[in-house]
Amino acid sequence: MTDRIVIKEVAPRDGLQAQSQHLTVEQRLELISLLSTSGISECEIGSFVSPAAVPQMAGTDIIASKLPDSDVVYSALVPNSKGYELALRAGIKQLAIVVSATEKMNKQNINMSLSETFAMAEDLMSRAKNDGVDIHAYLAVAFECPYEGRVEMATVLRQAESLMRCNPARLVVADTIGAANPKAVKDLMDALVQDFGASKLGCHFHDTRAMAIANTFAAIESGVRYFDSSAGGLGGCPFAPGAKGNVATEDLILLAHSMGLETGIRVDVLLEAIDAMNQMLSADNGGRAHYWLKNNWQKIAGTLQ
Ligand code: COA
Ligand code: ZN
Repeated sequence: MTDRIVIKEVAPRDGLQAQSQHLTVEQRLELISLLSTSGISECEIGSFVSPAAVPQMAGTDIIASKLPDSDVVYSALVPNSKGYELALRAGIKQLAIVVSATEKMNKQNINMSLSETFAMAEDLMSRAKNDGVDIHAYLAVAFECPYEGRVEMATVLRQAESLMRCNPARLVVADTIGAANPKAVKDLMDALVQDFGASKLGCHFHDTRAMAIANTFAAIESGVRYFDSSAGGLGGCPFAPGAKGNVATEDLILLAHSMGLETGIRVDVLLEAIDAMNQMLSADNGGRAHYWLKNNWQKIAGTLQ
């Protein structure tokens, strides 16, 4: 079997949640529909959060009720038990819960202490089994926190172990503000792969310091095959000052392709989705390989499936 990278496309959530321009529910649905035909495996369609906190994500319940019929696994972020219940009611079967590694980040993000956040996460993971949903447990600011600075690897390993005791479908290590470097990523992911196996792990990188693709490579070297990425490299967290876009999906698939790893993504459709999104946002977003891919996708498209 060919070695393969699985991508969760997060532009409709991480990409749009910090944009000054708020897309309508119809525009967000159009973007999700376009991305869904590109061959992505999973797509984060939005978040069930307070519309007062993140107005960009208001109406995620309506989006959930109108999702295109496809093989894509649709996922949503939930910050607390209210969000969990709303997502369940909306029929979403894969939920991302976020535990930040530091006290202050949890407070800023979801108004909970570190211990309250862990208790909430454990509660949701225990309920998920009966409710028939998969939980992706995100360990945010896993390398550096915008409020408390560098996060020790030993802390993250301890927190990962505690989350893994609740058996989430996946543990995703998130470099929320894009402060990681390839060595730190390799060290951490090597240790986690050794403890839990690569199939239970994923990574979520931001490109603030132009390290996202190098960090992705480091995680691939550790054995990780599951990544979040965002079409056009959109992304950012309203509660993590300084966070820039996610690793761009187009950069990630080019990296994978160059290394002989399949992604199943059709470059032409992805590029169309990015064009449509840019039009909606009156912007010119694109990963670092965007220009090259626009001019050369025919050369490699046939071999990217
Ligand atoms: N979805 C929608 N509304 C929610 C909610 C949710 N998941 N959780 C709480 N609320 C509502 C409550 O019903 C209440 O509404 P009311 O004022 O009409 O009664 C209000 O929000 C305040 O509730 P409370 O439990 O006190 O929440 P809070 O003020 O402590 O805020 C969060 C907590 C989690 C709701 C808020 O911080 C949030 O939405 N954060 C978003 C985090 C995020 O998206 N981060 C980026 C991705 S990691
Ligand atoms: Zn993010």
